[in-house]
Amino acid sequence: MKNVGIIGLGMYVPEKKLTNQDLEKMVDTSDEWITTRTGIKERRIADKSQAASDLAVNAAREALAQAKLKPEDLDLIIVATITPDTQFPSTACWVQKALGAKKAASFDISAACAGYIYGITIAQQFIANGVYKNALVVGTEVLSRITDWTDRSTCVLFGDGAGSCVLAPVKENGILSTYLASDGELGDLLLLPAGGSRNPATHQTVDEKLHTIKMQGNEVFKHAVKLLGEATKIALEKVGLSWKDIDCVIPHQANIRILLAMAKRIGVPEDKIYMNIARYGNMSSASTATALTEAFRDGKIKKGDIVVLVAFGGGLVWGSIVIKW
Ligand code: ACO
Repeated sequence: MKNVGIIGLGMYVPEKKLTNQDLEKMVDTSDEWITTRTGIKERRIADKSQAASDLAVNAAREALAQAKLKPEDLDLIIVATITPDTQFPSTACWVQKALGAKKAASFDISAACAGYIYGITIAQQFIANGVYKNALVVGTEVLSRITDWTDRSTCVLFGDGAGSCVLAPVKENGILSTYLASDGELGDLLLLPAGGSRNPATHQTVDEKLHTIKMQGNEVFKHAVKLLGEATKIALEKVGLSWKDIDCVIPHQANIRILLAMAKRIGVPEDKIYMNIARYGNMSSASTATALTEAFRDGKIKKGDIVVLVAFGGGLVWGSIVIKW
């Protein structure tokens, strides 16, 4: 089995900012409530002309440049998204077309906010087994298109963006362990009820806003704190490490209170938890992806560091990855 590492990182967020002050004019909320209850100050909103693949392509080009690879060098493209351009073809195929990655196999995965962790884990298997050499994994979301902008309990949380990485065989270090889990029993806590084969689009589903995110926030919150802590512990234990060995945690950015509670639970100092939630809100699969890119860019991750990626989301799904950088 080959060692697999991340050899390039990239991200893209749309230019338009939506601040808490802007939201105060749209729903009955306040900057004070949003800041203290979630840690979010602003989020990005995609232009009408932009779909998930457009954001993904920008993030992918940056990751490829950092990896010093051309699109033609890619063997595999995995896109994690809950806001695909189209139900089919997959968003990964639209990305493959835009990049001109002629050699690559391409597919999407649906694992909500844990999508980037699931995607990296899948790509790692192909490379470790020698089936493929170079893989691109992207987390991209245009959550503004599935947000009910009249529902203050959800619309203050989400934003648009994309992050990506290129994975390849490496001589030393790289991914040490991965852990993925799910519990479909909890699927109703967080879902997009209509638009699939269970509840296809009708005038009624549109009138009832069933094509927007529905969430039991309080319940999701409790599970998130527990599952993020558990997932971190399990992936570390697989390789004989503990929280004391961690240099940087890149968690899913759903709520600053979830992240602080998780830090306490796993015993990691808060300054080792990378957070960009204040600037972007929750971008589902793009949250861990952009956070990893920024943490590396900001010098928070250095060669030899132990980095933990950890996320949870609708499904419920959750997972973690331990990387020696
Ligand atoms: N502005 C002002 N008041 C608000 C707002 C708002 N935007 N939203 C809710 N409130 C009110 C409620 O109506 C309620 O009022 P009441 O007490 O009079 O009934 C009060 O604030 C408290 O509401 P709660 O829902 O209990 O607030 P809570 O502290 O739980 O925060 C939140 C809500 C931010 C959604 C939190 O529960 C959370 O972050 N949950 C987890 C979200 C998450 O992690 N999602 C998973 C990823 S998303 C994905 O997978 C796509």
